[in-house]
Amino acid sequence: LEGRGANVTVPCKEEAYRLANNLTPRAQRAGAVNTLSKQADGSLLGDNTDGAGLVRDLTVNAGFSLKGKRILLLGAGGAVRGALEPLLAEQPASVIIANRTVDKAELLAELFGDLGPVSASGYDWLQESVDLIINATSASLTGDVPPIASSLIESGKTVCYDMMYGKEPTSFCRWASEHGAAVSMDGLGMLAEQAAEAFFLWRGVRPDTAPVLAELRRQLAL
Ligand code: ATR
Repeated sequence: LEGRGANVTVPCKEEAYRLANNLTPRAQRAGAVNTLSKQADGSLLGDNTDGAGLVRDLTVNAGFSLKGKRILLLGAGGAVRGALEPLLAEQPASVIIANRTVDKAELLAELFGDLGPVSASGYDWLQESVDLIINATSASLTGDVPPIASSLIESGKTVCYDMMYGKEPTSFCRWASEHGAAVSMDGLGMLAEQAAEAFFLWRGVRPDTAPVLAELRRQLAL
């Protein structure tokens, strides 16, 4: 109608992808659209700001540089697809995609292999600690944690990030804290940052996310 566009969430991101008349390269690669922008000629441009939101939450809000870091991504669904390009753009030393269904991780590693050092794995093949673990599975929805070794966390050094969020710490964040993670963050910051990025596309103004995030956190606690 009169709007500039829409911010779209699960389970409608693939439908938004199909609806868009044109796609940005990052939405094309992600195979999913979370931001629709109405163009001057009335057509719809589909973009994906999820990965940019994640990277911004990690690098700006948490002050954690990704350059040269060893990153482990848990999951191989739409959330990982959206995150891979922006993560690889930060020039990490390595990105391992681990998934219950290893074939899906292998497919993504192949699809994004031209953008940086990305490989695939099963959960139980991994032992050596990494700098950052990102949980992009939907396991937290049922209170589960992907079955990874606690040796992947180097006590006091490894940062753990769950794309999920909730009133209470997620099962993955609890697991991470119990095993000595330096920081364990949930995905509320990613939610605010992907929205701010979308707002920027519509209005050319980047909203200050700090007060938004504080208000979201306050409302979540009620
Ligand atoms: P999204 O678009 O949110 O990423 P999705 O495409 O359905 O959702 O992907 C869900 C991801 O969570 C998958 O990587 C899935 O693993 P499989 O590909 O092996 O199915 C993962 N997942 C869901 N529940 C899980 C659980 N209990 N333990 C481990 N991984 C789980």
